Amino acid sequence: MKNLLTFSRQKASEREPNDLNTIVDHAVLLVKHKLEMQNIELVERFAEGLPPVDCDANQIQQVALVLMMNASEAMPSGGRLEVITELDGSTGEAALRVKDTGCGIPQDVLPRIFDPFFTTKEDQNRTGLGLAVAYSIVEQHGGEIKVDSTPGRERNFAWPCR
Ligand SMILES: Nc1ncnc2c1ncn2[C@@H]1O[C@H](COP(=O)(O)OP(=O)(O)OP(=O)(O)O)[C@@H](O)[C@H]1O
Ligand SMILES: [Mg+2]
Repeated sequence: MKNLLTFSRQKASEREPNDLNTIVDHAVLLVKHKLEMQNIELVERFAEGLPPVDCDANQIQQVALVLMMNASEAMPSGGRLEVITELDGSTGEAALRVKDTGCGIPQDVLPRIFDPFFTTKEDQNRTGLGLAVAYSIVEQHGGEIKVDSTPGRERNFAWPCR
């Protein structure tokens, strides 16, 4: 529901130069307990000397949260979550990478994950707006959001994630 509100509100964002590591660190603090409860090992690798990001810190924090929540939901019986900040070699901009060892995303599902209301999760309260909101925030900031997934055999076996 919170995502839905953010999606429809589309309020003008308040941008200023921000340190990506600080934003991501705040987001990690919000999910840390959930990760511990779920037996998920957290690996954080923050690059030093990243260029400041001209952004609305709350919105970019929301993007980080969406990615980490999805990652944790893909690992219901534990795994490893990597949260990495780095310099994008091609653009020279700061980048965030979130990796998990969860069930992965089948090739035929990949093109749809950023669609509003798309979800493969079965519980009633899903809006399927998490990644659609993240996509729209990143796009409004002139950034790029990409996904890469190679479900292994064992992981395919676990699909669909709940
Ligand atoms: N890390 C991930 N591992 C596996 N599947 C993922 C991952 N992230 C996203 N997905 C897939 O993309 C779909 C869309 O994600 P999105 O965050 O938009 O919606 P949701 O998580 O299903 O629901 P909501 O975020 O609104 O609660 C998910 O239902 C899932 O199938
Ligand atoms: Mg989600």
